[in-house]
Amino acid sequence: MGISIGLVGLGQFGQTFANLFRSHPGVDRVALCDREPEKIATIASRRGWDQKFNPRDRYEKLEDLLKTDVDAVAIITQPWLHAPQCIQVMEAGKHVYSAVPIINLPDGDEILDYTEKLVETSKGTGQFYMMGETTYYRPETMFCRRKAAENAFGHFVYAEGEYFHDVDADCNLREVQKKRTASASGKEWLEKKLRYIDAGVLTGPMHYPTHSTCGPVCVMKAHAVKVTAYGYTNRNKDPFFEDSAFSNETALFQMSNGASVRICEFRELAGSFHKEETFRITGTRGTYAENLWKENFRTDTSPAKKLQKTHLTDKDMQDPLPPEVALAFRQIENPGATDIADFTTGGHGGSHPYLVHEFVDAISNQRQPAINAWEAARYTIMGVMAHKSALRDGETLNVPDLGDAPQ
Ligand SMILES: NC(=O)c1ccc[n+]([C@@H]2O[C@H](COP(=O)([O-])OP(=O)(O)OC[C@H]3O[C@@H](n4cnc5c(N)ncnc54)[C@H](O)[C@@H]3O)[C@@H](O)[C@H]2O)c1
Repeated sequence: MGISIGLVGLGQFGQTFANLFRSHPGVDRVALCDREPEKIATIASRRGWDQKFNPRDRYEKLEDLLKTDVDAVAIITQPWLHAPQCIQVMEAGKHVYSAVPIINLPDGDEILDYTEKLVETSKGTGQFYMMGETTYYRPETMFCRRKAAENAFGHFVYAEGEYFHDVDADCNLREVQKKRTASASGKEWLEKKLRYIDAGVLTGPMHYPTHSTCGPVCVMKAHAVKVTAYGYTNRNKDPFFEDSAFSNETALFQMSNGASVRICEFRELAGSFHKEETFRITGTRGTYAENLWKENFRTDTSPAKKLQKTHLTDKDMQDPLPPEVALAFRQIENPGATDIADFTTGGHGGSHPYLVHEFVDAISNQRQPAINAWEAARYTIMGVMAHKSALRDGETLNVPDLGDAPQ
């Protein structure tokens, strides 16, 4: 028997995930929840939804969804809402998937408090939390995790991760913000945000750090211990940055494995060096950057050999999905499809199908998801502490760690 799941937050991003959750062969029943009923109706009327969605399973309040017997809930509401909602879900005895980040608020201490509470709740209730961090399932991240498991990097030396998303890029952040604050929950936030500004509590892009921190952390399986960071302040009084001390932030971390990591979170820049969201990693034996793997075969007891270079396509780097899952996802676009020869994974570097599969598989098999509360905490706390350091003109700060997930 498959699992049942309630999807909460059916806005721009939630709508792109709904068909994936509905189509996964491990899901038997889907419930829909949004404060705005027309968003539920849009999804419920899509082709194929009569199979796993009962019209009685529509909810305008999270509280009402939580009174049902669904096994799990996916929270894809606005970023300032996630943590308390995820905690509420786990306290109601259900597993929870959340869009990134754990929570985004202007006050870093509030983010740290929520992060700790989220970890404690997952531990105390025994319910699983998974963060839907898209970078975790980008092709390069899957490839580097495999190489790390083979010890092919040798000892990790250095990594750099970046999220370069200019406010006026094709995916225009002004438009995203306008849409996110147009709904009832969005308008409530605009009032709350003003209170932070009035109190002089200013945010920064490091409060949305998971796209850039995830790659180095999950590949090296290391956490940050110290940080020094600097910010770039917007120069033309752009109202988009009215609540921010900085529009761009750069941090250097010392990691628990002795490597150094440079992270950039930029919202004001002309384009990007390579991809908008990516990372590079070098070790004493192997290096990954820009779809290129280099290896010198050095070991602790033998010297380096001639450097071998391998150019990789994204397809080369991806892990396979189970064929029945790939076929079900393929059939979203083409209900008559019978094989997966032309199946291309989509969404943020092809990551969306992997995120949905990982969550459903983890819940079905009663195991911690890969991006569990403890893992997500590491990505999040790095950003909070980097912003704190930048606010203190680069003062070196210790980075707390909440440990590993219980097995
Ligand atoms: N690469 C990525 O990982 C990525 C990309 C885009 C968006 N996101 C994340 O996705 C999330 C959603 O973004 P979006 O652009 O879809 O926002 P959105 O504003 O379009 O949608 C949010 C929806 O949540 C609903 N909602 C809010 N509170 C609710 C409640 N208590 N009960 C039921 N429904 C409620 C709102 O009515 C709205 O429809 C954000 O947190 C964002 O960070 C992640």
